[in-house]
Amino acid sequence: MHKPVLVEEVLALMPAETRLVIDCTIGGGGHAEAIVGKLGNEVELIGFDRDVAALEIARKQVEKHATRVRLVHDSYARMEKHIPDSAVGGVDFILMDLGLSSIQLEESGRGFSFQKSQESAKRIWRAKQRGQNCQTNS
Ligand SMILES: C[S@@+](CC[C@H](N)C(=O)[O-])C[C@H]1O[C@@H](n2cnc3c(N)ncnc32)[C@H](O)[C@@H]1O
Repeated sequence: MHKPVLVEEVLALMPAETRLVIDCTIGGGGHAEAIVGKLGNEVELIGFDRDVAALEIARKQVEKHATRVRLVHDSYARMEKHIPDSAVGGVDFILMDLGLSSIQLEESGRGFSFQKSQESAKRIWRAKQRGQNCQTNS
């Protein structure tokens, strides 16, 4: 199971009136769940990940708050394609927890484990189609 790091520190950095958060690397959704779960019902979050398997885990992690979370299967480098112009000025906080998650390293079976012998799948991204949106509430 993936444990997000520095959750309390991230929450402490967020402005008091935070309404819209971009999680550039939502991964297993640990930070996202803490943000939408602890900061109140006005907070909405858009979460990006290149790994469709990570997004599936994140979807379950945030399902209690699904109406306030939008998951996007794409690189954060293309975030301008997914955020309406009208919302850009309203973004209060951007989180980037860069790298790979422990799920990808140890449990994905994609050959990146330091502890288990696995056949190398040679690819970290389980991509379907780049740019596909995954609504959590559908
Ligand atoms: C350390 S994990 C994030 C963990 C997450 N904060 C949590 O609480 O579970 C990093 C994630 O970034 C994703 N990632 C790496 N490069 C990316 C990119 N260019 N765009 C979107 N996601 C990316 C990986 O697939 C991985 O799921």
